[in-house]
Parts: sequence; structure tokens; C-alpha cells
Amino acid sequence: IQWESQVRSSAQIRRSGGMSVLVTGAAGFVGTHVSLALKKRGDGVVGLDNFNNYYDPSLKKARKALLQNQGVLVVEGDINDSRLLAKLFDVVPFTHVMHLAAQAGVRYAMENPNSYVHSNIAGLVTLLETCKSADPQPAVVWASSSSVYGLNEKVPFSELDVTDQPASLYAATKKAGEEITHTYNHIYGLSITGLRFFTVYGPWGRPDMAYFSFTRNILQGKPITIYRGKEQVDLARDFTYIDDIVKGCVGSLDTSGKSTGSGGKKKGPAPYRIFNLGNTSPVTVPTLVNILEGHLQVKAKRKLVDMPGNGDVPFTHANISLARQELGYKPTTDLQTGLKKFVKWYLSYYGYHQSKPLN
Ligand code: NAD
Ligand code: UGA
Repeated sequence: IQWESQVRSSAQIRRSGGMSVLVTGAAGFVGTHVSLALKKRGDGVVGLDNFNNYYDPSLKKARKALLQNQGVLVVEGDINDSRLLAKLFDVVPFTHVMHLAAQAGVRYAMENPNSYVHSNIAGLVTLLETCKSADPQPAVVWASSSSVYGLNEKVPFSELDVTDQPASLYAATKKAGEEITHTYNHIYGLSITGLRFFTVYGPWGRPDMAYFSFTRNILQGKPITIYRGKEQVDLARDFTYIDDIVKGCVGSLDTSGKSTGSGGKKKGPAPYRIFNLGNTSPVTVPTLVNILEGHLQVKAKRKLVDMPGNGDVPFTHANISLARQELGYKPTTDLQTGLKKFVKWYLSYYGYHQSKPLN
């Protein structure tokens, strides 16, 4: 009973016409920011996360506390738990699902391939099975990845490009996710929006990602390893600031309903959409390090090494015309400014907690 009332109160909508959203991966980096943004504008939000230990679980707990302070409940559970999902949908008729739970990270797929299958394939199917049978059916917005472009060398990447050469198992599971969600749209009429995020960074970020681990190592006086591609070429990423990604997510949720007929009844085919959410301004990894050095006022000890395995793609660069047109998506934070905000958060977070950064 207490569980139910907590879920209900978290899902409570304060603004007229607001939505009620299940956010999976809510204690994750992107999930935390999206949940806060939705709650702030008066939508109902319930989070779900399994708090796995892929990276420092205490950071996930701290994000959960931040969410709880704002009235967002994060239920601890796995997207593979169909009974838990059914229970949640029983208590709340979610209008939308923002699906961000996944095993992320490109290189870790060589260490623990099955965790990708568990969350990104099996978990996705379990979630879609619940959504297809829910009444009303929620519109689903989920995180795909720029990694689906794989070995594609035609830049900038556009949604119409072929994505048949994934370079990592992580990329392969995201590509599979795009195909799996398509079948649920086709057979069951689920509204689906897949978002291809491009290397997202910012406050409350992921300790396994380069900008985060570089910051920690630079501050601790430890060396950082900069990977180089074939023929010693610098790798480059279309680093995208979290607030821009959040706007793209919220814009997707707002435009993801089925077409409405007269009297507000849902009518017409459900949309299946894919959008790039990037920054359109790729930066090399050595330049990222230069910017961090500037903000931290500490020189990095650089080690240049060949990239481990073949999982990293040499560069990413988003064409965002479609998202701009359909979602009003317009990134506004450049890497200098965004990293400054990240560094400020990093220093305050690890300062307050008086603990050595983990992982
Ligand atoms: P994250 O790891 O911080 O967040 C994912 C959250 O999902 C974690 O809190 C984790 O505990 C949870 N989770 C994992 N498997 C689960 C399961 N089976 N059941 C319930 N919860 C589970 O990662 P993020 O950076 O916030 O990424 C969010 C989404 O965006 C992911 O789908 C990721 O693949 C995708 N993405 C991220 C980036 C990026 O640069 N951050 C880029 C492209 C795509
Ligand atoms: C990131 C996320 O980790 C993935 O979850 C996501 O799907 C992907 O973005 C995406 O855009 O789709 P990645 O770009 O590899 O993946 O992010 P980082 O791990 O932060 O690496 C950024 C760059 O730094 C890459 O070129 C990588 O090769 C390089 N790097 C990473 C190093 O040079 N040294 C390191 O120690 C780590």
C-alpha cells in the first residue's frame, strides 16, 4: 500500500495537459537530468533503475537523493522484471515511457558482453511487451546511440545513412534495438522515437567516460591514456552537453503522441521516428584534454596509446537538421562552456563528499 501511494504521488501531474512518464535508468546520468526537467515543469515522473555497479553505485544513490528531494521516486528494479513493470503500469496509466536504462559504454562490451544482451536486448523486449499491452499504450522514447553509424565514413551522419557496420557489441545491441522497436511499432502500433545521442557530457556524468576519468586523473596527478586510431590519427567526437540532450528528449516526448482525431481520440498510424541528437561540432580527444587543463589549471600527464581493440570509431559528427525541424532541437552549449560547468560540479561534488573519486 505504501509502495503504491508513493508511486502514485510521484506520478502526480501538476500542470494541465501534463504527462505521466516512466523514466527507466532514472538514477543514470541522462535519466537524472531528464527526470528533473520533467518534474520541474509539472509532469508526473516515476523512475526505475537497478543500481548496478557498472560504475560507482554511490554516485547513483546521490542522484537518487537529488531526485527524491524534488519529489521524484526512483523504484529499485530491473527492466527484465515483467511482474514489477506490470505492477507499475497497474498503479499508473503512464502516457509516456522515457527508456534510458541500458548497459552503456563501448569498450566494456569486450569484458562483459552478456550485460549488453541482458539490458539492451532482453530488457528492451520485456519493457516493450509491457507497453504494447498497457491501456492506454504509452508513447515510447528511447536512447539509441551515435555508435550505430559504426564504420560509416560519410560525415556528417544523417538518419538516412546505412547503419550496417557496427564496430562494437554495444553498437550492435543499439542497432538491434532500433529494429526491435520497429517491429513493435509495426505490429502493435506503439509510438516509437529512437534518439541517437552523441557522446553526452556534463554535471552528474558517468565516471567511465573520458572527460570524467581524465578530470579525476589530472587532479590526482595520474597519467591519462589518449587513444589513437589507425595511422596515429586523433580520434574525434561530437561531444554534446547534457542540457541540450535534455531539451531533445523533452521535445521528443512532447511530439511523440499518435495523431489525434476529433474529440481527442487517438487515431491514425503511430509514428516510428529516429533522430540524431548531437552538437554538430566534433572535437579531437587531445583538444578535449587541452580544454580540461585550462579549466583545472593543471597539466595532464599524457600517454598516447593505440586504441584497445577495434570498438572505437574514428570520429562522430551529427547532422541535426531533422531534429531541428521536427523537435525544435538547437544545441547551445559549446565544449569550452560545457566542460567549465562540469569541472565546477566535479569540484563541488567530490569536495562536499570528502571522498576520493572512485572508478
Ligand atoms: P548510465 O549508465 O548513467 O545510465 C543508465 C542507467 O540504467 C544506470 O543508472 C543503470 O543502473 C540503469 N540500468 C542499466 N541496466 C538496467 C536494467 N537492466 N534495469 C534497470 N536499470 C538498468 O548511462 P547514461 O549515460 O545516462 O545513458 C543513458 C542512455 O543513453 C543509455 O541507453 C545509453 O546507452 C544511451 N547513450 C548514452 C550516451 C552518453 O554519451 N552518455 C551516448 C549515446 C547513448
Ligand atoms: C560514449 C558513451 O560512453 C556511449 O555509451 C555512447 O553510446 C557513445 O558515447 C555514443 O555517442 O553513442 P565514447 O564516445 O566512446 O562513447 O565516449 P568516451 O568513453 O568518453 O570516449 C570519448 C573519446 O575518448 C573516444 O574517442 C575514446 O576512444 C577516447 N578515450 C576514451 C581515450 O582516448 N582514452 C580513454 O581512456 C577513454
